[in-house]
Amino acid sequence: MNDVALRLTVNGQPREGRCAPRKLLVDFLREDLALTGTHVGCEHGICGACTILVNGEAARSCLMLAVQADGAELVTIEGLMRDGVLHPLQEAFREHHGLQCGFCTPGMLMTALDLLHVKPEPTEADVREGLSAVLCRCTGYHGILKAVQAAAPRMVTAAHQGRNA
Ligand code: FES
Ligand code: FES
Repeated sequence: MNDVALRLTVNGQPREGRCAPRKLLVDFLREDLALTGTHVGCEHGICGACTILVNGEAARSCLMLAVQADGAELVTIEGLMRDGVLHPLQEAFREHHGLQCGFCTPGMLMTALDLLHVKPEPTEADVREGLSAVLCRCTGYHGILKAVQAAAPRMVTAAHQGRNA
């Protein structure tokens, strides 16, 4: 089948490409746009490693075709850091040891970002429920929970100050 053209915005930058109609969005990001920060785990929508933001909402890029993202605005893990400064969530993960091998981390961060956009002042139960969508084989989740709870008020402050949140 012939390749199809698509145009989209990724991390604030206009991007375009051509790919097979059946190509997964996660493969398009990694192979065509060289954005390899988004990881591929199960390819079945279970592990959450491939989570990105699509039009502002968390989505599993292994469950979308690239062509379905035509015209969309995407944010990947590469879009979190700005001007050499870590995003408050990244900084909190660093401080609270929210990662070990790091395989789940991109999906965990993007899922947490969506959670904190929807619930800027989450309870611990909210964080537990929100992050239950992403599997981590290493950390036991304690550091991740602490990191997201620590990041929440910092993101509110950053948003009020017009900084990266
Ligand atoms: S790779 Fe997409 S959910 Fe596991
Ligand atoms: S840090 Fe290794 S899978 Fe989460």
